Amino acid sequence: MIRHFLRDDDLTPAEQEQVLTMAPGTVGGKAVAVIFEKPSLRTRVSFEVGIAQLGGIPVIVDARSTHFGRGESMADAARALSRYVDAIVIRTFEDTRIAELADYATVPVINALTDGFHPCQLLADLMTVRQHLGSTAGKTLAYLGDGANNMANSYLLGGATAGMHVRIAAPTAFAPDPVIVSRAGEIAAATGGSVKVTVDPWEAVAGCDVVATDTWTSMGQEDDGIDRITPFLPYQINGALLKEVPNAIVLHCLPAHRGEEITDEVMDGPQSVVFDQTENRLHAQKALLSFLIGQ
Ligand code: CP
Ligand code: NVA
Repeated sequence: MIRHFLRDDDLTPAEQEQVLTMAPGTVGGKAVAVIFEKPSLRTRVSFEVGIAQLGGIPVIVDARSTHFGRGESMADAARALSRYVDAIVIRTFEDTRIAELADYATVPVINALTDGFHPCQLLADLMTVRQHLGSTAGKTLAYLGDGANNMANSYLLGGATAGMHVRIAAPTAFAPDPVIVSRAGEIAAATGGSVKVTVDPWEAVAGCDVVATDTWTSMGQEDDGIDRITPFLPYQINGALLKEVPNAIVLHCLPAHRGEEITDEVMDGPQSVVFDQTENRLHAQKALLSFLIGQ
């Protein structure tokens, strides 16, 4: 059976642990298409470099130069690409798009960010937690900001899979999807983690080991007419908030909107591990590719 990685819970807790701890091998000359329907810096470069370092052939595709814009279906693209490459990595919009691609592909499909999830980022984040705190199991992560976006969903599912206590603090209008919260709760019940959703950023942060945030405006939401500043102001990660947890590490998947969800003081301060987190995209994705298509 072909294994896809479309969302964080596509890896079992044991498999996630394996990916987070394995030494990447080789993919032995296999080709990997990496397709972008949204902008990217880190994901693009880390996949291209990582595939090359594994001995594979990266084929980076900017979707603007394809036929997607004039309606070629994901189903047809999946069947065509499967004749050339050994895995397809894609960054796209609705999760139904990647689901269609995965349904028709005969090679593994990897989610490089959709509207719903950013599971490759989560692997890097969890690797960073292990690197700085020794383990993920039993550690508490507080994510502040847009509880309805891809990062919040991935923290819920990926964090629960890793046995973490995941707390999401978000304004009511940007609360996580109850279906995802409930799925994360189910996973946490088996891994010893837990899940909590609150509107109170201070309650979320109290006693936590990891503070995380993300942009308040995700790609594709720029012109949706919704105020994505005012409701989020109490959820900014700043010096006052970090005084509550002077030993916690701070994560941000980047790109950051300095002065909005995170201040310069925090981004550039001693608790920030965001550039280790960025580096770990490379290591985590090499491990994931080795796991899925390695030799
Ligand atoms: N964190 C992340 O996915 O960054 P890019 O959008 O630059 O790829
Ligand atoms: N939530 C952000 C993550 C960027 C890496 C977005 O989707 O734009």
